[in-house]
Amino acid sequence: MRAATAEAHPNIALVKYWGKRDEALHLPYRGSLSVTLGPLRTRTRVALAPGLEVDRVWVQGQPAGSRFARRIQVFLDRVRRLAGATVHAEVATESDVPMAAGLASSSAGFAALALAASRAYGLTLGAAALSRLARQGSGSACRSIHGGFVEWLPGVSPEGEDSLAVPVAPAQHWDLAVVIAVVDDGPKPVSSREAMARCVATSPLFRAWLRRVDRDLPVVRDAVLGRHLDRLGEAMEANTLAMFVTMWTARPPVWYWKPGTVEVMQAVRMLRERGVGAWFTADAGPNVKVLCEGPDAPAVARALKHVPGVEGTLECRVGGPARWVSDHGVEVPVG
Ligand code: PMV
Repeated sequence: MRAATAEAHPNIALVKYWGKRDEALHLPYRGSLSVTLGPLRTRTRVALAPGLEVDRVWVQGQPAGSRFARRIQVFLDRVRRLAGATVHAEVATESDVPMAAGLASSSAGFAALALAASRAYGLTLGAAALSRLARQGSGSACRSIHGGFVEWLPGVSPEGEDSLAVPVAPAQHWDLAVVIAVVDDGPKPVSSREAMARCVATSPLFRAWLRRVDRDLPVVRDAVLGRHLDRLGEAMEANTLAMFVTMWTARPPVWYWKPGTVEVMQAVRMLRERGVGAWFTADAGPNVKVLCEGPDAPAVARALKHVPGVEGTLECRVGGPARWVSDHGVEVPVG
């Protein structure tokens, strides 16, 4: 029986991916730029199981729900097509990232699955091919193949061969931290897939959003390369808010925020008034991620813990690339 295990970290977009030009292939209208987050991680094992008539999927030791299992099966079908294989597989995934809460669990999940499944099915894929493959599970997953600071090039090809993520700077480039203020870690009311499609189809501000990304992406890329936290933070907050404006102006509107979401954003502005370099972002969910210099993370986390509506905080640092893990615990990173 052939089997492989892999791990990946989630990533948080500093310039967001929001809107697909191709729904099925997950091809975005614009590029995006992210930071990969350790120590949060997802570990996935794929074992080929010739006796099975369908793929069997386990999440945190329990059989997966049917919708989740279906997404994994569709992804494994792609891998089987690439490998010319028909045999089904047993998939077991464990994660310390709460799922479907806008905490980027799918980015880590599909990156780890791309590594484990491709190896179990006997494919030898490099970083570019793995990024393209992970993208087809969940768009943001293409960025979790790499560690550090990562850009997803949107590409122009209708088939998506040129839509993949590339490294901008490794994790050691900049000691940044992301403090996640958890407002609600329950599943979100609308999936990011559905929300994005609704914004593309109905928000009168969607085109303005794309122009915003065109301006923010070079600013954020340069700010990362030059380690300018204020320039990065200012553009990231503006980009985040512009993404939410497309949600609020969609029909029907997409509403992820809770009162605690706004409380945290206000608290971050107050921290800045007191001279702490802290900047917020959020994704398809109510939780707020706060970017700051690594040494400031404990103080930022202490301040956010007491904000009304905050259930807890998670302190993350810049993480490394996705990697295969052998049965003896030896790790082989991508690239
Ligand atoms: O995780 P996906 O591929 O369904 O989309 C996530 C989109 C955002 O998290 C809102 C933004 C991003 O760039 O990660």
